[in-house]
Amino acid sequence: MSTSPCISYPRHLAIIMDGNGRWAKQRHMSRVLGHREGLKAVRKIVKKCGELGIEVLTLFAFSRENWRRPEEEVQSLMGLFANALKSEISKLNQNQVQLRVIGNLSRFSKSLRHAIEVAHDLTLNNKGLKLVIAVDYSGQWDIIQAVQTLIGQVKAGTLQTEAITQDLFATYLNLSDLPLPDLLIRTSGEYRISNFFLWQLAYTELYFTETLWPDFDEDALNKALLFYSKRERRFGCTSEQHAEINVEA
Ligand code: FPP
Repeated sequence: MSTSPCISYPRHLAIIMDGNGRWAKQRHMSRVLGHREGLKAVRKIVKKCGELGIEVLTLFAFSRENWRRPEEEVQSLMGLFANALKSEISKLNQNQVQLRVIGNLSRFSKSLRHAIEVAHDLTLNNKGLKLVIAVDYSGQWDIIQAVQTLIGQVKAGTLQTEAITQDLFATYLNLSDLPLPDLLIRTSGEYRISNFFLWQLAYTELYFTETLWPDFDEDALNKALLFYSKRERRFGCTSEQHAEINVEA
């Protein structure tokens, strides 16, 4: 870790970026412009997380429910993703960022899927920040796709039903090779998970802020990280046991 020795940083930070539309509305601008400003905030936060040595940053960029938005907004978001991939990828690569995109990509255009594959392959061996973009992702979808794979294996006789434990099930979910999220931030004053990670958030610290996503800057991130560093993560133990574990560690 490159910064304050007094702050313990999350290994995996997940963010529900919310409030682009309201940010734009407050300024009598179109929602599309709000998303463009949102992208500027994404750049700042990715850079900062890389500098802090955070291992994984997952950004919830497009939910399965977002397909219900007006066609024009969906198209402009798709355009924004495609352009951002093209324009940012070489800089991300230079900075050793490993890019992953998770979600059901089948509804995305062929060219966008191709650009995602190229970006993924290019950055696969990078050793810096793992940047995960969740698109057309939902926690319920993730669980269902895991169940379908498991059932397929049971039917094929390669897996015994009795062998399905909590730990085994978790390996069928997206990002099972990465640490679970330690901290979830949701911006814009909404206090919901909105079908983002469900299984993965079992022990995650939750931080909600009124700040709209385009205004979420380094100071806002620092506040969230300070909140996290003050939490006592007990994972079901008592405070006393937790203190003992910390002394032993
Ligand atoms: C939520 O705000 C934001 C989104 C649905 C899209 C997020 C996209 C970006 C931040 C830009 C591009 C990002 C990447 C990773 C390339 P909202 O529209 O729901 O805001 P509202 O609740 O105020 O209407």
